Amino acid sequence: MEKFVITGGKKLKGRVKISGAKNGVLAMMPASILAPGIFRLFNVPNLRDVWTMSRLMNDMGIYSELNDSELFIDSRNIHSFEAPYEHVKKMRASFYVLGPLVARFGKAKVSLPGGCAWGPRPVDLHIKGLQKLGAEITIEGGYVIAKANRLIGSRIHLDIPSVGATGNILMASVLAKGSTIISNAAIEPEITALAKFLVKMGAKVEGIGTNTLEIEGVDELCSTNETVIPDRIEAGTILIAGAITEGNVTIESCNPYHLTSIISKMEEAGCEFDIHEDKITVKLDGPPNPVDITTSVYPGFPTDMQSQWVAFMLKAIGVSKITETIYPDRFKHVPELQRLGAEIEMSENTAIVYGGKQLTGATVMSSDLRGSAALVLSGLIAKGTTEVLRIYHIDRGYESIDKKLRLLGADIVRVQTEDY
Ligand code: UD1
Repeated sequence: MEKFVITGGKKLKGRVKISGAKNGVLAMMPASILAPGIFRLFNVPNLRDVWTMSRLMNDMGIYSELNDSELFIDSRNIHSFEAPYEHVKKMRASFYVLGPLVARFGKAKVSLPGGCAWGPRPVDLHIKGLQKLGAEITIEGGYVIAKANRLIGSRIHLDIPSVGATGNILMASVLAKGSTIISNAAIEPEITALAKFLVKMGAKVEGIGTNTLEIEGVDELCSTNETVIPDRIEAGTILIAGAITEGNVTIESCNPYHLTSIISKMEEAGCEFDIHEDKITVKLDGPPNPVDITTSVYPGFPTDMQSQWVAFMLKAIGVSKITETIYPDRFKHVPELQRLGAEIEMSENTAIVYGGKQLTGATVMSSDLRGSAALVLSGLIAKGTTEVLRIYHIDRGYESIDKKLRLLGADIVRVQTEDY
């Protein structure tokens, strides 16, 4: 096992490059199931979740290899249509293989993901959508078993604009017979990027970037190459790292447009920005103002930035409210932050943060990906040494976060540990 040892108090300064989007590439990799061929994806982050998806696809007969940031995929020899529990339990995005498998091969057996660290995470909308496209679905022994001759286009309205359900149904519908309309679809940038990737593969999709996707099914698709969009959550996290340490940090290779809600809240908190086409500089002198946020679907404030915002508000002089509407229980980081001396009260799905108290270093435990980012951010401003355990969580979604923060002047090291 590895842990981070952080000595707080350094103001971050300098520039760092943002990696490709985890949630972007995790949707694109399964799309390669839809066509036999050689794909090349560029700007792919080297992350545990990408390895998990590669292993899962490898077991299905899809060879993949990541060199630097180029991912080579060969999907010509698929021989298994199953996503076993051992992979899906590690990463819910594994469920993305369901739609493409049933669309291309008419069969799939995919483990149900179950819950996660912050509560239940259903997949009912994925299943209902695929059923509307004509798939016959049964649940047996914890697995979703889907069968179909050829899927048939349909009108599908999502009760909630779920990112995963939109992606799965979209990937299934591109090979269905006839037209499909997905209304109340997610418009997260990673879904828009997936739709554009599918179009490059020969799919017919209209309404990309809007919440109504119109798909005209085609008989076959072909392989292609594509560049993964920048990771907006990594970008937001590093912007907060700059601001929370009262530093001056530039992030490069990012898409400022995808960060609008985060930048606007950080401006309210007193941060100054210099924004260019693919580059953002943030500066903050002194503590931030307390600013409330409520998470919502894109373009609202992302749930994946909620825990980092809690950490940021620990530095603000005053009280702020952080309300989680996507995953009401997503507050596993709060008790760990309290171990650093944070004063936070929970009231249902709202964290009330009494900021401005000096945090003191302690040993804390990561329990999920974004929660561990909040622990690292807090370690950067805590007095003394903070040890963050179970950093495999952060490695799932941040490429070399320790190296990037060190490049900006943070005192953070990765060390082997017996601690679990
Ligand atoms: C994706 C992201 C995750 C992010 C989340 C919300 C990936 C790999 N992961 O997760 O980082 O936090 O979007 O932006 O892209 N829901 C249902 N039924 C379903 C599906 C979802 O009720 O069948 C509910 C969920 O419980 C949740 C909400 O819809 O309350 C949003 O979930 P969803 O958008 O599906 O998240 P994921 O795709 O799992």
